[in-house]
Amino acid sequence: MDHFLYRDGALFAEDVPVAEIAAAVGTPFYVYSTATLLRHFRLFDEALQGTDHLVCYAMKAASNQAILKTLAEAGAGMDVVSEGEYRRARAAGVPGDKIVFSGVGKTADEIRTALTGGIRQFNVESEPEMEVINAVALDLGLRAPITVRVNPDVDAKTHAKIATGKSENKFGIPIARAREVYAHAASLPGLEVIGIDVHIGSQLTELEPFRLAYQKVAELTETLRADGHDIRRLDLGGGLGIPYTRSNEAPPLPVEYGQLIKDTLGHLGCEIEIEPGRLIAGNAGLMVSKVIYVKNGEGRDFLILDGAMNDLIRPAMYDAHHDIIPVIEATPGVEPQPYDIVGPVCESGDTFAKQRLMPPLGAGDLVAFRSAGAYGAVMSSEYNSRPLIPEVLVHGDQFAVIRARPTFDEMINRDTIPEWLA
Ligand code: LLP
Repeated sequence: MDHFLYRDGALFAEDVPVAEIAAAVGTPFYVYSTATLLRHFRLFDEALQGTDHLVCYAMKAASNQAILKTLAEAGAGMDVVSEGEYRRARAAGVPGDKIVFSGVGKTADEIRTALTGGIRQFNVESEPEMEVINAVALDLGLRAPITVRVNPDVDAKTHAKIATGKSENKFGIPIARAREVYAHAASLPGLEVIGIDVHIGSQLTELEPFRLAYQKVAELTETLRADGHDIRRLDLGGGLGIPYTRSNEAPPLPVEYGQLIKDTLGHLGCEIEIEPGRLIAGNAGLMVSKVIYVKNGEGRDFLILDGAMNDLIRPAMYDAHHDIIPVIEATPGVEPQPYDIVGPVCESGDTFAKQRLMPPLGAGDLVAFRSAGAYGAVMSSEYNSRPLIPEVLVHGDQFAVIRARPTFDEMINRDTIPEWLA
């Protein structure tokens, strides 16, 4: 459920007409709903009621300061994967002891920043990384709390580019080598081994892969405890999928996922962490765009929008489907017609949808891409020298620009001319 609904034929974001935002900020833009963000965060929080837990929002999904602050105030921790994300989380008011640091290539500088500023734990991805964390911690006279990310060799049954839990993926250490790696970690004086981490992929639409992975983590917990390690925290990653179409998809609910966690791991008495990103932000955001032209091609009509692949890359990159809906609802009885919906960027990959049934649309009409809140704005670029599009946050009947569209001069003046050309 989200808070983007039609009222008297006009699309609203909570209590604000989307067309009103478009008139104020221009198109294209992203708009997020506070109520949906909070609702999704709370679904996870409630799903883990009764267990000691922390929901660490995977802020790579959408990392605007206003979004982070909204979630942080509701009690969310953060899962970060770079110094930039760490600094964003801290700037949004998240205390260090609610920030977990994931990512396969943390640099010594990043580790130092997090250790100095405060960190809940590092999720260690390799032995060389473990050595560096140890060295930086010793240099600072600290002990770094760590989990080791294990790769359980489970098929997440998702798009190949976002599956991470198979042995061929670059993530984690093979679960078969875990005892050896934990023994090594325990021998390093700058580290405090506190738990186990696992994340098998994103946009999972079945619970079974989670079950297989978590059962392996449960077994490993007992083994490592028997080896003398104090395994007291389990970070179970993110990955629960969202419905991208309103008709036929029904991924498992957070409450079912929470029950699975309790069933597979509850008996261990560990503190549970999860790192959901997409499910919190995905359906809390729209990308709104305007039709520039309707072009009649050979046997097909193109809707040429002012939004493009640089603004929302998921269709080009993962063949992802986003529902695209008119901001002014179609008049009942009007026959929908097929369009190829494209952006103005100079490559054929800049296609959002082929032969998509839409009500007849004309130049100037607004459309909204649903489920664009996660991995939308954060993955955008200025390709074709198209300035990054603004982000807007709605809260009831209020809205605010939370990242302004840069001017052309701001975009151009970020470049500098070397002396020999001046
Ligand atoms: N934890 C770790 C260690 C991760 O690598 C990820 C996502 C998450 C948590 C959050 O997963 P989520 O709950 O959002 O599924 N750009 C792609 C998705 C990449 C996901 C990368 N890792 C897309 O647009 O589909």
